[in-house]
Amino acid sequence: MRRVSVIGIGAGNPDDLTLAAIAAIAAADVFFVIDKPGAREELSRARLAIIDRHAPGSGQRTALVEDPQRDRSAEAYVEAVDDWRARRATAWGRLIARELAGDEHGAFLVWGDPALYDSTIAVLDRIAADGTLAFELDVIPGISAIASLTARHRIALNRVGQAVLVTTGRRLAAGLDSDAADVVVMLDAGCAFTTVADRDLEIYWGAYLGTEDELLVSGRLADVADDIVRLRAQARARKGWIMDTYLLRKPSAALR
Ligand SMILES: C[S@@+](CC[C@H](N)C(=O)[O-])C[C@H]1O[C@@H](n2cnc3c(N)ncnc32)[C@H](O)[C@@H]1O
Repeated sequence: MRRVSVIGIGAGNPDDLTLAAIAAIAAADVFFVIDKPGAREELSRARLAIIDRHAPGSGQRTALVEDPQRDRSAEAYVEAVDDWRARRATAWGRLIARELAGDEHGAFLVWGDPALYDSTIAVLDRIAADGTLAFELDVIPGISAIASLTARHRIALNRVGQAVLVTTGRRLAAGLDSDAADVVVMLDAGCAFTTVADRDLEIYWGAYLGTEDELLVSGRLADVADDIVRLRAQARARKGWIMDTYLLRKPSAALR
């Protein structure tokens, strides 16, 4: 039977690949690489570099997957994502059927960890549910941007017995409905931390984690928010894209 592996590759540092990921890459016959033109091209190149380094087999091949456009302006966010995933499933299903022979092993290299804000597993589940294409699925975990962020700032993610919330910039901007002591924010297109009323929160911010462009800032929101906004805008203008993650932390004194 066809086999498809979803392999977490870490969030930017090529040395963050696990031994399990390296073994799965070496064992694959076909790599499905999502072609993201424009700003995200650099991320596709990073995946291809990993394949070059860890897939020396002469029979291994790469199939570029064209990514359907997603309507980012849509008011109905969940419906827009659902529609995009459905179109992805149709395109990927056709490609897997065409590129992967009955006993072959395909691989998707996923940024960070496949279980965190990534649709690869959900899209493959849709293809399997459709019933027209049978394959075995396995998932190799990866080092997420959250793990990279906390490691680079040399902090633990949680405090003793306290909850951690992982959320998006969109949700933070709409108002925090949680009293978690620590809140990780991802997928923030617009500095949602500037909308947070409590300026005494500490922020641990990281952009391009694990890469040579990495940026790190930490401190009280009141003291460093403007610096982050400025740094972020400069970096984005220079590179044409940015990926950043941050932790908003209630000061320990506020937890007693
Ligand atoms: C689609 S999600 C993918 C998350 C990924 N699966 C993970 O485990 O980290 C993309 C978001 O991850 C975060 N991210 C991924 N790579 C990053 C990096 N190198 N530096 C900072 N943030 C990163 C950003 O918040 C970005 O908006």
